[in-house]
Amino acid sequence: MPEKKPPKTIATINFKGGVGKTTMTWCLGDYISTYQNDNTLIFDLDAQMSLTQAITLNDDGSVYEQFSDWSEKSYQTKKTVFYAIFEYISDKKFNFDVDYNFIYKITEKYHFVPSVEELYWLELELGAFDRKLMKGFMRDLLGKVSCSENVLGYNYILFDCPPSFTLLSYSILSCCDLILIPVNPDFYAVKGVPLILNALKLKIQPFPAPKIAVFMNKAKPHAGGMTKESKFYWDTVKRICHDTSKETGIDIKCFDTPIYDRADIKRSVIGKNGIPQAFVPDFRILWDNIVRFINEQR
Ligand SMILES: Nc1ncnc2c1ncn2[C@@H]1O[C@H](COP(=O)(O)OP(=O)(O)OP(=O)(O)O)[C@@H](O)[C@H]1O
Ligand SMILES: [Mg+2]
Repeated sequence: MPEKKPPKTIATINFKGGVGKTTMTWCLGDYISTYQNDNTLIFDLDAQMSLTQAITLNDDGSVYEQFSDWSEKSYQTKKTVFYAIFEYISDKKFNFDVDYNFIYKITEKYHFVPSVEELYWLELELGAFDRKLMKGFMRDLLGKVSCSENVLGYNYILFDCPPSFTLLSYSILSCCDLILIPVNPDFYAVKGVPLILNALKLKIQPFPAPKIAVFMNKAKPHAGGMTKESKFYWDTVKRICHDTSKETGIDIKCFDTPIYDRADIKRSVIGKNGIPQAFVPDFRILWDNIVRFINEQR
């Protein structure tokens, strides 16, 4: 088997809830697997399981049958994220095989690692384990994904992170290539940006440092652009990024290409339907920016 190229990894995060982390992770993943033909893996790492529910529930709230069978097997064979962490911290050799009991296939090119309820009590259940040890978890797990002969070689891996600072987010932020921060046109969502940057600088200190990009989601549309109010918040974000960048020494890119507030975007986060055609141009522009930035030499 030819050696796999290491994937590019992108974590969508904001400590502020409801800004669209889950929706953006899903839509970007769908866009790149469908329209760019890239093998894509997404992780739901939020105990709320919003992404997992969106992908696996039917319109009437029942679980998609194919997923329900898969999920049972995944639990039986102990191939969940929770067990991966458990083995990582209790077994120095980290004997965890990555295969399709761990990764669920949504389509041929779009694959998914679901969240599990145990993530709610991860920190309680596993006790006060070493934070430093946990830092390496996601890097080592991704190494297994890349080396496994049982699963695709992925071009991109995207993470849907929880709106809080967990040991899992700590581990992801320590190893990803790009941190993608969605903000909304409102006061509190804008405040989430310095929080993340300060956490990176003071608590995580990742090496090598990931690239960081911010964009506006749910921008209010007006005459082919944003409303004055959305623009005001976007200008505020850019100013905050500029100031925090100076303070922390961390470089931040602000993408001037928003995703607009569209009532029917919710319907697009259903595993069986792709993102509607009307949304594709916005995601194409955003994705082009992401790829250019991620491949830029520093
Ligand atoms: N561009 C958009 N236009 C309209 N609605 C949107 C858009 N993006 C997200 N939403 C809606 O906003 C709500 C919150 O989105 P989402 O669950 O993706 O946020 P989140 O940041 O993942 O939340 P949490 O912090 O709880 O994980 C959902 O109802 C979603 O459908
Ligand atoms: Mg979410």
